[in-house]
Amino acid sequence: MLSPDLEKSLIEAACNARLNAYAPYSNYLVGAALLTADGQIITGCNVENASYGLSMCAERSAVFSTIGAGNRSVHACVVATADGGTPCGACRQVLSEFHDDANPMQIISVTPGGAVVMKTWLRDLLPNGFGFGGRTF
Ligand code: THU
Repeated sequence: MLSPDLEKSLIEAACNARLNAYAPYSNYLVGAALLTADGQIITGCNVENASYGLSMCAERSAVFSTIGAGNRSVHACVVATADGGTPCGACRQVLSEFHDDANPMQIISVTPGGAVVMKTWLRDLLPNGFGFGGRTF
């Protein structure tokens, strides 16, 4: 479970990352903040492209930075959007790759002002996700 202080820091980081979103086509800004096993907070935002299909979601952007920084385990993902949206299916699957079964991944969606809209677990958002041999959570 996240402490209230850590949850607050993650929410603030996701809201700040949202302000860096490059989303001139959808105008739907998304910020994500991940908590790694060693306590780091790593952020990402959506980056759109004129060739729409090349756009990247905030959550996956954050996951790739997290892995690039040497982490292999994500304990929480906070997403900030205008309407408190939750991670899309593709992002849920990518997040699941770095799920730590000993520390189930918390997913929190918030508004741009940091109000919590939904607090849940990745295992509840992605039942029976793909994994060789099956996902264990
Ligand atoms: N988007 C995200 O960043 N994360 C999601 O989980 C869903 C959608 C982005 C992609 C695109 O830039 C914009 O939101 C509208 O779909």
